[in-house]
Amino acid sequence: MLNIVLFGPPGAGKGTQAAKLVEKYGFHHLSTGEVIREEIRQGTPLGMSVKGYIDQGHLAPDNLVIDIIADYVARHKECKGNIFDGFPRTTLQAEAFDRIMEQHGTPVNLMLSLEVHDEELIRRILIRSKDSGRADDCDEAVIRNRIDVYKAQTAIVADYYKKQGKYHAVNGIGTVDEIFAALCSYIDPLL
Ligand code: AP5
Ligand code: MG
Repeated sequence: MLNIVLFGPPGAGKGTQAAKLVEKYGFHHLSTGEVIREEIRQGTPLGMSVKGYIDQGHLAPDNLVIDIIADYVARHKECKGNIFDGFPRTTLQAEAFDRIMEQHGTPVNLMLSLEVHDEELIRRILIRSKDSGRADDCDEAVIRNRIDVYKAQTAIVADYYKKQGKYHAVNGIGTVDEIFAALCSYIDPLL
């Protein structure tokens, strides 16, 4: 089983590329952002407790997101692989993630990091805001806050995986197919 962390700032293309990886390799895909947005849509207590954070582009509390992941991993032990999109987003999450994966005997194999500069991120998200229905897409100040939060709290997670020799940067500018080919070039040798 291959466990891949798909990393990168808001709008880098994580969700777009994850869908293609699922199609090609038959992996499962978990986007913590999607899980949280679904909880909000359903009006669950969890969703209501984090709505304020997500709408303003702040991170949800670590313990809540770690619980989501622990539950997901326990339910996906028998599969070809998993794409973790938007998790881990803090060093504390990365440490907890390693402990969870150790318990299940399925370590993270690879972090693939999509590199895209800020202005392109904002351009992409503003285009998407026209039909995404995401509260955190509509306001440029919130988009910039998401990017700032990424730089302040999340970018450092790359170092955690660099130390483990699992980190690879991928140019996230170009066509979706070009970027996909670059991602596959890291995955194929591991299969
Ligand atoms: P999350 O849902 O993870 O959002 P994000 O990281 O801000 O990233 P996006 O989903 O906006 O972008 P993406 O990288 O998936 O890009 P996409 O493929 O859509 O998180 C949202 C929130 O949830 C967080 O702010 C936080 O509050 C909370 N949260 C989630 N996980 C958490 C965690 N672990 N801890 C704490 N809180 C957490 O592409 C973007 C657009 O660009 C699309 O329109 C796409 O069509 C287009 N596009 C894609 N590729 C290209 C290309 N090559 N060229 C041109 N356009 C492209
Ligand atoms: Mg996404």
